[in-house]
Amino acid sequence: MSPAVDPIDVLDIRNGGNINPGKSLCDEVVDGLTALPKSQVVVEEGLPDILWNKSLPTVVLYQGHGIVLFEDITRDPKYYVYHEEMEILARHGSSIVEALTSGIAVDRTNYVISAKDSNNLCNVNLTLIDLGAGSLTKAESLLHSIEAANLRFSGPPKISSTYYAGPGSALQVDIQYHQLRDRLHGLLERNPSFLSGHRLPHGEHGGDGIAIRGVCGSYFDSLSRLQKGEFQCGESNMDTVPSRKCLMWLGSSVTNMEPAEAIAFLRNLATSGLQDDNMLLIGVDHCRDTDKIKAAYSETSGRWKAYVRNGIRNAGVLLGRHGAPLTAGAERWELVTRWDKENGRHMRFVRCPEKLSFSTKTGRIEIDKNEHVFVAQSFKYSPNHIKDCFNKAGLHIVNRWSLDQGDCSLYLLQRSG
Ligand SMILES: C[S@@+](CC[C@H](N)C(=O)[O-])C[C@H]1O[C@@H](n2cnc3c(N)ncnc32)[C@H](O)[C@@H]1O
Repeated sequence: MSPAVDPIDVLDIRNGGNINPGKSLCDEVVDGLTALPKSQVVVEEGLPDILWNKSLPTVVLYQGHGIVLFEDITRDPKYYVYHEEMEILARHGSSIVEALTSGIAVDRTNYVISAKDSNNLCNVNLTLIDLGAGSLTKAESLLHSIEAANLRFSGPPKISSTYYAGPGSALQVDIQYHQLRDRLHGLLERNPSFLSGHRLPHGEHGGDGIAIRGVCGSYFDSLSRLQKGEFQCGESNMDTVPSRKCLMWLGSSVTNMEPAEAIAFLRNLATSGLQDDNMLLIGVDHCRDTDKIKAAYSETSGRWKAYVRNGIRNAGVLLGRHGAPLTAGAERWELVTRWDKENGRHMRFVRCPEKLSFSTKTGRIEIDKNEHVFVAQSFKYSPNHIKDCFNKAGLHIVNRWSLDQGDCSLYLLQRSG
């Protein structure tokens, strides 16, 4: 009997568990918790100032059960960032797909094909790469719009290690192997018309469906694969079929980074990750209504508390046996949030319930009772400010979708000339 083949396809591109280049996540945790002295301050009118300097990498919030706990947050109707983006995809999905497939240039022949043929079928190969895919619900919505757009693929079927030639394929990138695998399983079960990349034997099925693959890795792992020319649509037998790659980065995740860091990451994508007519679909929250923001990220919400406490526990787990003081006391850390008006960002901290003092392999951690540790932020950029960031990154806006009464936008970007 041949061994059972896992029907769910997750390509593991993790670089030894590092999230950022050159440093282990464990070292990032130690560095963040050993920072001294408290020199940064965040001021919100009517609330005590927070003096802080220690931090945890935001990504630890998504380790362990973090993705499940974040999904729980998205079930709260007040978490508008998720619901508005879902609504934009539902209402404008066909227009987004039209923009993704129109005027695709075939480099090698320098020939621009019109999107639709006489049967109103669009003959393309469209590859979505969904960075930080999470629950996959947004990808699922866009993939339904792609199905509804009646794309077809007339080129020879071709499957390589990361690439499937059909009208559409999607690479779902996230950091937790098992969580990603479970969500892919659910996505494929709910959508029998989607194909699991892994199930496709060479030479079969090409041309008749949308293939889905999971990719377990960080944003930077994906960037380095893109820079090496992987996740590539165009192959030698594809000369006659217009191909386009579109990176999706939704959930306003770009706003979690410091602006300079976000611009640098986008610039790297633009200059070395994307080819000329590739696209980037990116979600950005512009909200400046502080009541709405504070309700969405409420510090009294059990969902948010569970999510940040999971982050403390994960930080402890990363430190191995040294991290026991963090794992053991995680339930007693409190969530504290502030609207930093000066910098236009919402900030999340955790407050340490007791004095902690312990050694790790690489440094000694001392955290005072009631000391605040920064865990996450969301910048709320104005449309002009984010446009400026895109320009600095070498990207220009091709299109933008939002809701009439909404605060969130989906931007479709391309490399500037
Ligand atoms: C705010 S959630 C957004 C999820 C989904 N894209 C959405 O819009 O609903 C961020 C997602 O990115 C993933 N993530 C966070 N940091 C990451 C990193 N450095 N590399 C890859 N994925 C990351 C998390 O695991 C999580 O699933």
